[in-house]
Amino acid sequence: MGDAPGRAPVLTPQSLLWAHSVRPCNRLHDCAGIERETLSSNAPGFSILDNVKVSAMIETIEWTDDGVVMIDQRLLPTEEIYNTYQSVEEVAEAIVTMVIRGAPAIGVAAAMGIALGVKNLESRDQLEEKFAAIVQTIHDTRPTARNLFWAIERMNKIFESHKEELLLKLQDALKNEAIQIHDDDIEINRQIGQNGQVLLAQGSSTVLTHCNAGALATAGYGTALGVIRAAVENGKEIRVFADETRPFLQGSRLTTWEMMKEKIPCTLITDNMAGYFMKANQIQAVVVGADRIAGNGDVANKIGTYTVAVLAREHQIPFYVAAPLSTIDLGTPTGEGIPIEQRDITEVTHIKGQMLVPPGISVANPAFDVTPNKLVSAIITEKGVVKAPYQESIAALFER
Ligand code: MRU
Repeated sequence: MGDAPGRAPVLTPQSLLWAHSVRPCNRLHDCAGIERETLSSNAPGFSILDNVKVSAMIETIEWTDDGVVMIDQRLLPTEEIYNTYQSVEEVAEAIVTMVIRGAPAIGVAAAMGIALGVKNLESRDQLEEKFAAIVQTIHDTRPTARNLFWAIERMNKIFESHKEELLLKLQDALKNEAIQIHDDDIEINRQIGQNGQVLLAQGSSTVLTHCNAGALATAGYGTALGVIRAAVENGKEIRVFADETRPFLQGSRLTTWEMMKEKIPCTLITDNMAGYFMKANQIQAVVVGADRIAGNGDVANKIGTYTVAVLAREHQIPFYVAAPLSTIDLGTPTGEGIPIEQRDITEVTHIKGQMLVPPGISVANPAFDVTPNKLVSAIITEKGVVKAPYQESIAALFER
């Protein structure tokens, strides 16, 4: 099973109504991942943790004995609801409908979904076929994020090396690998943050980011927002400008929410305001995440990233991409080979179920665009920061 574009997910308008998913439960965790409080769905978020001076880490996804628990990102910022998913089909649905999104978080969900599918097997009968079907279910969710296919490859390897063992042992090995992918991701993001924060000015500066490449888009801490978090931890005065990121509004709903939780100053702007603020010298750097980076350094990221990169070049503002090695796809030599997900047009035509356009209007909804490497000032990874020529510098990263 290759890293080919899966079928374009078919989203029903119903799934886009930001509806509650299965089995809601509410939970908050402290930095050590210990459950601290259970709140009702309309309770005031993290205020209890604020009172006890615990700095809360946002828990995006977690493996538990009851199933895979995810914060429902469709409901943020107004509701903080955690859902528990108990089958691979439910996890796949959560990925397609954006309960969980962001390339590294999708990778973690993919691994946990596969582990869950195998956990639910009652016998070794037709094990190979059943495993292939489980993997296919995850494979067909979203086509662009490299991390999804990277996670599948890791789970495939574990399956191959444990498939002759007792079913219980195989189930354990797959579960442990999924948890490892989750835990590693947080560490990797902290390393990306440390490597990237040195690129931001000492003293104060304003950084523009697009979409949400934060804790919510990863297992925790974030890539682009990880760089910002690390800069703040290193005593730099960072102000964030968050693009709202039409059509799904990951910037206005998620990035602002994360920044407010961290008390990092953040100003929300609409996507078409970025040029205005760049021209007015109010932005000193752009930091974004990536869904897939080709071998030559072309970067696929949330639709609108390319526009920001062009604007940054015009205004001589550095444009940085923060991403783990698991987002880099050496098997795709240039950005032209990156599959771009086309999502349901109701994401453009509707907000919260409210139709905003005349019926019958033609609508397009590509979820990602590709920024050519020539517009990328540097790519920040856990193994270091690389610059052009990317063909060579990216290849060297995998030798380190
Ligand atoms: O459609 P989404 O919300 O999954 O798109 C997310 C992005 O484009 C992020 O910028 C990217 O995945 C990097 S996340 C660290």
